[in-house]
Amino acid sequence: MPNTNDENMKDQSDTKLWGGRFSESTDAFVEAFTASIQFDQRLYKHDITGSKAHAQMLEKVGILTTEEMQSIHQGLDEILVDIEQGKMEWSIALEDIHMNIEAKLTDRIGLAGKKLHTGRSRNDQIATDIRLWLREQIDLISDEIQRLQTGLLDLAEREAETILPGFTHLQVAQPITFGHHMLAWYEMLVRDDERLQDCRKRVNILPLGAAALAGTTYPIDRAYTAELLGFDRPANNSLDAVSDRDFAIEFTAAATLIMTHLSRFSEELVLWTSAQFNFINLPDRFCTGSSIMPQKKNPDVPELVRGKTGRVNGNLIALLTLMKSQPLAYNKDNQEDKEPLFDTVDTLLGCLRAYADMMPYVEVKADNMRKAAMQGFSTATDLADYLVGKNMPFRDAHEVVGKAVAYGVETSKDLSEMSLQELRQFSDVITEEVFEVLTLEGSVAARDHLGGTAPRQVKKRIEEARNNSSLT
Ligand code: ARG
Repeated sequence: MPNTNDENMKDQSDTKLWGGRFSESTDAFVEAFTASIQFDQRLYKHDITGSKAHAQMLEKVGILTTEEMQSIHQGLDEILVDIEQGKMEWSIALEDIHMNIEAKLTDRIGLAGKKLHTGRSRNDQIATDIRLWLREQIDLISDEIQRLQTGLLDLAEREAETILPGFTHLQVAQPITFGHHMLAWYEMLVRDDERLQDCRKRVNILPLGAAALAGTTYPIDRAYTAELLGFDRPANNSLDAVSDRDFAIEFTAAATLIMTHLSRFSEELVLWTSAQFNFINLPDRFCTGSSIMPQKKNPDVPELVRGKTGRVNGNLIALLTLMKSQPLAYNKDNQEDKEPLFDTVDTLLGCLRAYADMMPYVEVKADNMRKAAMQGFSTATDLADYLVGKNMPFRDAHEVVGKAVAYGVETSKDLSEMSLQELRQFSDVITEEVFEVLTLEGSVAARDHLGGTAPRQVKKRIEEARNNSSLT
């Protein structure tokens, strides 16, 4: 069997697997500088899975005998066990996960091990490993998103009728229900998960068979390898398959949006736990104290999540910059894709986990929320709408209510605390039943349409969301 690949195998295990054309050994620093085994070892399982499928395909098309394929499978299975039991010795000299495993395989099974790399290159191998790994991580992330969503729906249900002030410009705007507020977070996560599922379709394409860049002279069966590995199909172009990391960039972009959303939740939790708002309590086990101020209980989890958004944004920029202007096909630059990608996944999983764990224990201080909603004239729009109902044009109604609010500021009274006589100074169309719309309950109940804050709508959406297949 001719060995025409980019990396010619050498017999001596103490030299590089690609050492044939070299006349001096690699500089020690350069060896460590160019190695990736320090971080790509976490791809070991996916590298082995990919190699087993490759060997099986080689056997199917007659390049490996059944015995060779079986021996490769057995050797790889044993290596997997060794790695999981911490018995594998990783070697910087062997550069990366692919060559570490391949060298170990050859040590173990001899000649058949040296045939494994037929018809492939580390270029299509790494592109395959990352995709296999990322596909699995996307599924784990999606599970955590759904766990957080379940927590949000439960909290929304518990507090469907609880009233707090809704804000615009962080100024009291209109009363809303706490359930409605939780559902806003829920909806963001629905889109986040959709983005991940969409990205997953483009991750789930098989690069293997592209070999170094141009394909291979062997009669390989890429569709079979794709099927064995659960990929939707093989990639259509070998140059593109080994070189582009757009799927990783796209995933990281989706991750930045998830983190952006979590940072927004975080900011609200931080505000709400402050003495000034005092809207919620977070369990002690999710908070920490101060080494100097004995009274402190800090909302560290939301603060850290908010802060970690920065590193995920940074990872996106790192990956975009890494890919920018790269000529076809594979360049060593791409080895730099792993750490930002791994860090993005680890950060995201950690943040989602902390939030999903914390959500069932968020304690709502309904009385304080209610008090806050009574300040800041949150039912002013309801009074204007009431006047419109009495045939006053909206602009005029806005003006009348503005004057009533100015009077309220002067006398320190909420609209609902003024007497009928006081309110009638501003318009004589106002009658006794105005108080029904000026109450907080009346205000929220009146916004009873799809997407509105009324408790009835909140409960409807919760039920609908729970029946949604994506949550089961
Ligand atoms: N460690 C490399 C990476 O992460 C694997 C592919 C290397 N290919 C090569 N021809 N040097 O991208």
